[in-house]
Amino acid sequence: MSDAPARDREVVAGAIFREGRLLLAQRTSPPALAGRWELPGGKVEEFESPQNALARELLEELAVEVRCGARIGVDVPLSPGLVLRAYRAELVSGEPVALDHAQLTWVDAEELLSMDLVDNDRAWIPELLAELSAL
Ligand code: CDP
Repeated sequence: MSDAPARDREVVAGAIFREGRLLLAQRTSPPALAGRWELPGGKVEEFESPQNALARELLEELAVEVRCGARIGVDVPLSPGLVLRAYRAELVSGEPVALDHAQLTWVDAEELLSMDLVDNDRAWIPELLAELSAL
């Protein structure tokens, strides 16, 4: 056994930008979050890199191939030992479809501000807006 402190487990979420817009996905569950919007993603599995996890999750949820890019915004603590992180995701192939969400939408900066985002993802609004404004 190593004495190194246990690293936080990660949930990864992907920010896909295209033509001045950001992709958002509408949750179907749990009931408290159903109908609210998020950056798509999910839990990193044991022995999996965050980059591979993001690519796996977005393939499973959106049917697209992505390349994981740089981190965006702050770490959002979800529970002790579990942290939510956003990464830029570059579309490599495929057109996103909602396999796991109610629907998808592409928003510009103004629309992002009017969306009912899940609370956790609101932490990234400043960086997402800055990115959308620069596109
Ligand atoms: O797909 P998987 O079950 O691995 O993960 P998930 O249920 O989609 O997400 C794991 C946790 O992260 C849940 O508590 C989600 O609410 C949260 N999450 C979030 O707050 N914001 C996101 N953009 C993605 C996940």
